[in-house]
Amino acid sequence: MTGIRAAVSAADLAVNGGTPVRTTPIGRWPVFGEEEEELLLAALRSGIWGSIDGTYVKEFEAAFAAVHDARHGVSLVNATMGLTVALKAVGVQPGDEVIVPPYTFIATASAALMLGAIPVFVDVDPETLLIDPAGIDAAVTSRTRAIVPVHHGGSPADMDGVMAAARRHGLRVVEDAAQAHGAAWRGRPVGAIGDVGVFSFQSSKPVNAGEGGIMVTDDAELDELLWSYRNVGRRRGGEWYEHVRIGWNLRMTEFQAAVLLGQLRRMPDQQEQRTTAAAYLETGMARIPGVAPVKVPDGVTAHSWYTYHWRWLGEADGGMPKAEFADALRAEGIPVFAGYVPLNRNQAIIDEIERLGGRPADPCPNAERAAADEVMVFTLPILMGSNTDLDDVLTAVAKVAKTRR
Ligand SMILES: Cc1ncc(COP(=O)(O)O)c(C=O)c1O
Repeated sequence: MTGIRAAVSAADLAVNGGTPVRTTPIGRWPVFGEEEEELLLAALRSGIWGSIDGTYVKEFEAAFAAVHDARHGVSLVNATMGLTVALKAVGVQPGDEVIVPPYTFIATASAALMLGAIPVFVDVDPETLLIDPAGIDAAVTSRTRAIVPVHHGGSPADMDGVMAAARRHGLRVVEDAAQAHGAAWRGRPVGAIGDVGVFSFQSSKPVNAGEGGIMVTDDAELDELLWSYRNVGRRRGGEWYEHVRIGWNLRMTEFQAAVLLGQLRRMPDQQEQRTTAAAYLETGMARIPGVAPVKVPDGVTAHSWYTYHWRWLGEADGGMPKAEFADALRAEGIPVFAGYVPLNRNQAIIDEIERLGGRPADPCPNAERAAADEVMVFTLPILMGSNTDLDDVLTAVAKVAKTRR
């Protein structure tokens, strides 16, 4: 690794015409092989492409639920609709309030809004970027129905604190585990710690079918409801035109499930590879002045390492502001993502809350500061890179971090 100790002049940066650290892509995603090809071809040749009569969706649902120590799994088209269906199944009604963190993908909050319910933002812990359970009590009103903790980046949220708050106030818990395949809190896989957990199989996710999602639960009654809502309000074992409630057609295809069966088999090895890569990055990043890790809570016993978050704190010492840092890093050939815009500041969400007559979102200073000034994100392909790739990442971060304007 070079460049960490050397002083770097701004002229050396690739963004100013200097030589970039890296000129080839890092990591490979998706990863697939003969297994997925054979499964996909077999699904095609079976001539049964829908999940109603097929076997792949059922097999995948059972396998995914088992890996996450959940009794039931109900697949569907994506996790955005999974969160919506899960909230509906736990009884969220128009006008209810749903507690969510602000530092997350929009679906965490828009799922509530799609049901006419109001997302109420409880700020994240500044060190972990995960919902801070200490803020939940003050956010609860007589209209609060559910909490949606997000296992952001694949790091489980503090599920002890979330479940304790839920018990205190009689709330349901829907885990947004869209990024947290294979993650665990104190040895218990995420997903069925709360009432329902929702995972995504969108193309960037650790288990990937291009699109897709699954809802897992231990509760047999909820399982029936989840199945029914995603299956146009049908009843298990009922007639085709028997609709006992209003639902959506959100069924996954056999093609997706065939690919997912292959992807799920790869998950443990890939998760281990990313865990090793994250530890390597963590050690290297700790040596770079101005760079600090995003903390992983003590209760996390398995992390999916969907993404690697880190903070840039060097601006106060004459370093670049975050946005310039990110641009400079990209010019060095290292893809970096600036992270989320906190949802309490998203205009579409603010407008929809107002339209529904909900209480306006409170400020969330921890999420807002992290998003505006500090946090940057490496996505999954980097964590699938070799140590040589990771050395390039560290060299480039160090190069930009050492530059003074
Ligand atoms: C935290 C979080 N929640 C929900 C979703 C929605 O998942 P999907 O893209 O499958 O609808 C995502 C996907 O990016 C996510 O990251």
